[in-house]
Amino acid sequence: MHITVSLAERSYPIYVQTGLLDKLGAIIAADHPASSYAIITDSTVGKLYGSRVQAPLADAGCPVTYHEFEAGEASKNPATVATLCSELARAGHDRTSVVIALGGGVAGDIAGFVASIYLRGISCVQIPTTLLAQVDSSVGGKTGVDLPEGKNLVGTFSQPSAVFIDPDVLHTLPDDQFIAGLAEVIKYGVIRDPEFLVYLDAHREPILARRPDALIHVIKTCCLIKAAVVAEDEKEGDIPAHPQFSATPSATRWRRPLISPSCTATRWPSAWWRRRGWRYGTRCSQRSGRSTCRHLLHATACPPRSRRSLTAVALHRILAPIRNGWAPRCFSSCPPMKDRYS
Ligand SMILES: NC(=O)c1ccc[n+]([C@@H]2O[C@H](COP(=O)([O-])OP(=O)(O)OC[C@H]3O[C@@H](n4cnc5c(N)ncnc54)[C@H](O)[C@@H]3O)[C@@H](O)[C@H]2O)c1
Repeated sequence: MHITVSLAERSYPIYVQTGLLDKLGAIIAADHPASSYAIITDSTVGKLYGSRVQAPLADAGCPVTYHEFEAGEASKNPATVATLCSELARAGHDRTSVVIALGGGVAGDIAGFVASIYLRGISCVQIPTTLLAQVDSSVGGKTGVDLPEGKNLVGTFSQPSAVFIDPDVLHTLPDDQFIAGLAEVIKYGVIRDPEFLVYLDAHREPILARRPDALIHVIKTCCLIKAAVVAEDEKEGDIPAHPQFSATPSATRWRRPLISPSCTATRWPSAWWRRRGWRYGTRCSQRSGRSTCRHLLHATACPPRSRRSLTAVALHRILAPIRNGWAPRCFSSCPPMKDRYS
């Protein structure tokens, strides 16, 4: 059972399954044979999950090396990439080696970039461990690092060979990171799938409790949407349809690289919404319409550093207007996602 990202000869599967992490050594050894494997991860994820990926590969007789960098966005720079490339060269990895990217979006972006440039490009499989990475950054093939001049200024488009998602790893994820990922999840619903917003509304408690059944549905739905978006346009394939949903451009000023914290609907006049076919737009000048926009955008753009907790009650308030028929008009032209989970 997997989702396929359809890109002709560069198509690849996304597996979503609880307990997958402990089976991965055998699966990778069988489905992605290589002369050697290089696990690239950060210092936090490495301690939690590194050996659970490395040991089964080593037990299966595969040469495997382990490479760790300091956790955090500050490591996402060319120096880390150069260090990792040197480590791979010293370890003797060749053109038939496979990089295993284990971690959140930072590890995925760095390891994917290293794989795409080492020996002019070797294969990479992604094992995302944050909710954000599981629903967004591990799919689509965007890799890269930041420069002092800006975020993600150096990088490549390089699709992974496979993405392996185990929702169980989210149980160790700090709350603020989980909520940051949930903001991305809500964004998928806002932009592409109103039925998904209704699901989020109805299942807010199991989702916030990180129950596996709810998480699997959420992750699969997001991956289906992301896979469809990437298949439509590999290079521009991105969910954001609004500047408020984009990353903050300045590498020197952002704290969280997610979304501009200054986001409020009040900064966008009702005409902006009208032009985009949002029914909200016509109601923005009305009392509840404007506050609906603001709640929705605050939810999707809630900066984790503000430590605003997205409680079950808050999620209910955000999604209730949508459940009651306040869906954006643009949704009517967006057919429901076909279930391509095969
Ligand atoms: N390539 C893309 O398409 C794309 C899309 C969106 C975001 N991104 C990038 O993703 C990055 C942000 O990713 P992120 O939010 O995952 O941050 P991250 O990778 O820094 O992870 C956040 C923190 O959580 C820790 N962590 C990760 N998994 C854990 C787990 N299971 N248990 C406990 N701790 C865990 C990490 O060590 C880190 O300290 C940014 O650099 C952004 O540019 C890339």
